[in-house]
Amino acid sequence: MWIYYCSRLLTLLCLFPDVCKTFGSGVVQMFNGTVFYVRSTCPFTLTRFTHNRVDCDITMRRGKNGLLEYIEINVNKIQTRILYNGTIFVEQRMVSLPYDHTYQHVFQYGINTKLRSTVLPLSVIWSSVGMGIDSLWVQLEQELVLGMTGLCGRPDIADDRQRLIAESILSEDGCQTMDSLHTKSTVCQKFFSNYIECLQANTSKYITLCKENIDGYEKEHYVGCAFYKEIAHRCQTSYAWRTLTHCPEFSCPGELHFEEQGDAFVPTCSNPAPRTNDQDITSTCVCPQGRPYTVIRRNTVSSVV
Ligand SMILES: *[C@@H]1O[C@H](CO)[C@@H](O)[C@H](O)[C@H]1NC(C)=O
Ligand SMILES: *[C@@H]1O[C@H](CO)[C@@H](O)[C@H](O)[C@H]1NC(C)=O
Ligand SMILES: *[C@@H]1O[C@H](CO)[C@@H](O)[C@H](O)[C@H]1NC(C)=O
Repeated sequence: MWIYYCSRLLTLLCLFPDVCKTFGSGVVQMFNGTVFYVRSTCPFTLTRFTHNRVDCDITMRRGKNGLLEYIEINVNKIQTRILYNGTIFVEQRMVSLPYDHTYQHVFQYGINTKLRSTVLPLSVIWSSVGMGIDSLWVQLEQELVLGMTGLCGRPDIADDRQRLIAESILSEDGCQTMDSLHTKSTVCQKFFSNYIECLQANTSKYITLCKENIDGYEKEHYVGCAFYKEIAHRCQTSYAWRTLTHCPEFSCPGELHFEEQGDAFVPTCSNPAPRTNDQDITSTCVCPQGRPYTVIRRNTVSSVV
């Protein structure tokens, strides 16, 4: 799939696609790399643009537990809605994975789920933990478009953050956007003391985000864990972050065991040599001693981080 786009675009763009993420209870990493926190139960536009006359609109809303309650992806007038529990509806009909359609493919991607559009160089990856979606990534293998709107931002202007947030809210009916507060947290301090080398000058910014993320959600363990996981994976240190944060590993079905960073496509009996490349690395469940395993139905996989 990457090869398809790479043949049309600069290699550099393929190796480093523009990525926008939202995780935890409201951390947003924009396409330009800037990270901020917004606490709101209102529906938001994450990104919206038109490319080669194809419209793309990705919206989402968080629930009271801080996690995403739903994600809605509209590409080329096809609506895909992902519910808090991971159930996927395409054009109002529930679908199962893998879902192969002319316009998009939706499939299991390590312990996550990935939607790849065939009409836009766009992929969306999410992770559902049963009571909500704790992380969402939007990858664009194209240059950013000037008229973009939404929390993910646009390439051109150094905009005012408050205005960007206000303009990305879709409706304020029955929902609230709150000022973020910092909780006192020794976990945030201790956690980041291990990543100073990796984050350098941005360390204190991340400590603030960490405290904003967990304020009021100290007991909602998925909120904190989604954040720690993001940093730990980015910084790729062998440091035992799960012990400090009490974030359990994903519990893989059967004999499989969890790998923080492994092949997104694990061999199965029906597909012993899945096509993978260096980019398809994510948290995943692998076979002991590299043995292929039989196909496991998605809904038998229990969700722990
Ligand atoms: C710090 O964050 C900025 C974006 O806000 C980024 O451009 C820069 O590379 C980051 N520095 C480090 C060391 O991560
Ligand atoms: C998820 O929730 C929806 C709506 O509440 C329901 O229709 C669906 O069956 C649920 N899926 C699972 C796997 O529990
Ligand atoms: C990214 O965009 C935001 C909003 O448009 C802006 O405030 C911020 O300064 C930009 N960051 C970088 C590193 O250009």
